[in-house]
Amino acid sequence: MKTIFPMISLPSLVLAQQIFTPGQDPEPRPQCSSKGPSHPSYTFTPFSYTQTTTVRYASSRAVPTVTATYAPPLESLATLIPSQSYTTWGKWDPNATTSATDAENPYGNAAWTALWEYANPPNFTETAVYSTTVEPTPIPSDELVLPPADYFGPTDCYNFPKGFQFGVSSSASQIEGATAEQGKGPSLMDILFRGGVPTDYVTNEHYYYYKQDIERLAAMGVKHFAFSIAWTRILPFALPGTPVNQEAIDHYNDVINFVLEKGMVPEVTLLHFDTPIQFYGDNLTQALSDAEIGYVNGGYQNETFQDAFVNYAKIAMTHYSDRVATWFTFNEPLLYADNGKSIDNVIKAHARVYHFYKEEINGTGAVSFKMNNNFGVPKDPSNEADLYAAEHFNSFQLGPFANPIFLGKDYPESYKATIHDYVPLTAEDLAYINGTADTLSIDPYTATVITAPEPGNIQSILDCASNYSSPYRPYCVNQTTADVYGWNIGYRSQTYVYITPTYLRTYLNYLYNTWRHPIIIAEFGFPVYGEAEKGLSDQLFDTPRSIYYLSFMSETLKAIWEDGVEVRGAYAWSFADNWEFGDYDAHFGIQTVNRTTQERRYKKSFFDFVSYMRARDVD
Ligand SMILES: *[C@@H]1O[C@H](CO)[C@@H](O)[C@H](O)[C@H]1NC(C)=O
Ligand SMILES: *[C@@H]1O[C@H](CO)[C@@H](O)[C@H](O)[C@H]1NC(C)=O
Ligand SMILES: *[C@@H]1O[C@H](CO)[C@@H](O)[C@H](O)[C@H]1NC(C)=O
Ligand SMILES: *[C@@H]1O[C@H](CO)[C@@H](O)[C@H](O)[C@H]1NC(C)=O
Ligand SMILES: *[C@@H]1O[C@H](CO)[C@@H](O)[C@H](O)[C@H]1NC(C)=O
Ligand SMILES: *[C@@H]1O[C@H](CO)[C@@H](O)[C@H](O)[C@H]1NC(C)=O
Ligand SMILES: *[C@@H]1O[C@H](CO)[C@@H](O)[C@H](O)[C@H]1NC(C)=O
Ligand SMILES: *[C@@H]1O[C@H](CO)[C@@H](O)[C@H](O)[C@H]1NC(C)=O
Ligand SMILES: *[C@@H]1O[C@H](CO)[C@@H](O)[C@H](O)[C@H]1NC(C)=O
Repeated sequence: MKTIFPMISLPSLVLAQQIFTPGQDPEPRPQCSSKGPSHPSYTFTPFSYTQTTTVRYASSRAVPTVTATYAPPLESLATLIPSQSYTTWGKWDPNATTSATDAENPYGNAAWTALWEYANPPNFTETAVYSTTVEPTPIPSDELVLPPADYFGPTDCYNFPKGFQFGVSSSASQIEGATAEQGKGPSLMDILFRGGVPTDYVTNEHYYYYKQDIERLAAMGVKHFAFSIAWTRILPFALPGTPVNQEAIDHYNDVINFVLEKGMVPEVTLLHFDTPIQFYGDNLTQALSDAEIGYVNGGYQNETFQDAFVNYAKIAMTHYSDRVATWFTFNEPLLYADNGKSIDNVIKAHARVYHFYKEEINGTGAVSFKMNNNFGVPKDPSNEADLYAAEHFNSFQLGPFANPIFLGKDYPESYKATIHDYVPLTAEDLAYINGTADTLSIDPYTATVITAPEPGNIQSILDCASNYSSPYRPYCVNQTTADVYGWNIGYRSQTYVYITPTYLRTYLNYLYNTWRHPIIIAEFGFPVYGEAEKGLSDQLFDTPRSIYYLSFMSETLKAIWEDGVEVRGAYAWSFADNWEFGDYDAHFGIQTVNRTTQERRYKKSFFDFVSYMRARDVD
């Protein structure tokens, strides 16, 4: 028996998104006025090895003369939250032969050690190079010489609008290391890959190496540095009323201050997948089992999660809002949402944090959150079912957050039909949540080609939505990589994506015109296929990544100037190769990292990207 859903209205489907115009090869060359002569005259001349090369150096950030502030300092904000107790815990040593003697203290050293013993991170070892903060050294000028430019490149004549934010982005668990040091508690990231992919607790040692990392970015002229704070560093016991880790507070103060000292702007994400393990209660298996909506169960559905997140956010904001330009509450929450309650908690926690920032802190910076979706494009735009499938795919991933937050509108039908335990939003909820983000922030890595599960059949999408055994859940479409003529253009896997700049322009139009807010490209990046297997010099000469960044920026400029889409910034993922949730094989970095020495090297794409932006008036 098939459940028949009422037909959903399709207002956004009146316009097809792609038009195929027939044309003959070769491509015409309208810039060449006539065919030109076909008989050259040949001559002998004296030969010499003369060649002229312009040697360019990356321009570093200037030492700042003034530093912007966005809120009063901690002393003026501390009364906005309950009074906190601050403490320190040190480092977990699983081989320790002595044990803490403060067992009576629910948050003492014994309790903190017990958290780690309970988390039981597999194969916990320390092969770190650093155990204390590394003092930065200036970047030698010979590291800043630009590589030979690609012969072909964008030919646009547009500039970026004044104030366009150009930056790089990162997340704590993927770069920090020092995972059981200076009081940090265990998070999902410390247990996620138990019984499968080998884990790593060192990553890029950025926790101790951050000054050199920031120094390297400043030397390349990068202005905006986006990073995430580890919740389990600030609050190893996660919950409201538990003590704050003084060493973590000091650490992130130091990071922010060093970013500012280098003439850069700090931007902070509060939760980038590293959920404290407390939200799995006494059953850590939950963290390792399949989520109903996303790929991983991020614990957001836990009954204590919402209040605990808001408490953590308030502690972070009262300490750092004076200096932080943008706060991103959640990173890609769909991917770690387990069920309908997860999404309910995320959007309500986000809205509460926004109201706190704007109405109690009176912050003048921006608040947003980062969404993900490898833009679904209809395989055959003249096929109604493909169009419907693409819209279903996109609205399912973005609408549960974007509808209430940007429009004060209910969840999309695609979401409500699929996730039967969704939490209905009341008119009061919608009024409170509406307008609680300053920008629509998106991580538009690539595009996906979408068809209905059964070709040409809208009903197959609706059947899937109601059928918990359908293999197409939760997206309920067939995600493919081949366009209608069989060319492979779309997303294949994390290590193997395609460069789809023209779809980016369509995507920016889709986002802006649907949710009507300025856009931030919060992450975008490209894993050159097989880069991890190459030698260092070949890794550094990463032409495909240059093509990716320059073509994406060129299409962004067209969206801005030709389509009237407001795009406020773009952040490269990531400033260096890092731990990609299991291994280091997917290189997304614009710098290499030597896994033995932790030495960083700039890749070609970093120079090309910065040079492109600078040439177009970006500070
Ligand atoms: C604990 O001891 C084992 C055996 O000596 C060693 O292999 C491991 O690296 C040690 N772990 C830590 C975190 O020091
Ligand atoms: C732990 O180490 C063993 C031995 O090296 C290895 O076989 C296993 O895959 C590792 N497990 C994880 C989760 O890293
Ligand atoms: C939810 O989190 C709390 C800790 O705040 C924990 O005590 C409880 O067991 C968790 N609930 C579930 C269902 O895991
Ligand atoms: C722990 O969680 C897993 C995954 O959700 C579940 O299958 C299992 O029944 C749970 N165990 C207990 C004791 O509740
Ligand atoms: C923020 O503004 C409100 C309303 O004007 C005011 O009551 C409050 O004291 C201000 N907060 C701070 C931290 O200055
Ligand atoms: C959401 O807020 C915007 C901006 O204040 C407003 O124009 C819009 O009408 C609100 N939406 C709803 C459904 O109330
Ligand atoms: C649900 O999907 C499963 C797997 O494709 C299929 O066997 C079953 O017939 C479907 N149920 C309904 C009611 O369509
Ligand atoms: C999805 O579409 C592709 C391309 O049309 C097709 O080859 C594939 O069989 C479809 N997948 C399924 C599971 O139907
Ligand atoms: C990392 O550095 C070590 C020591 O300098 C060197 O032997 C090794 O080849 C480097 N690894 C790569 C991948 O370049």
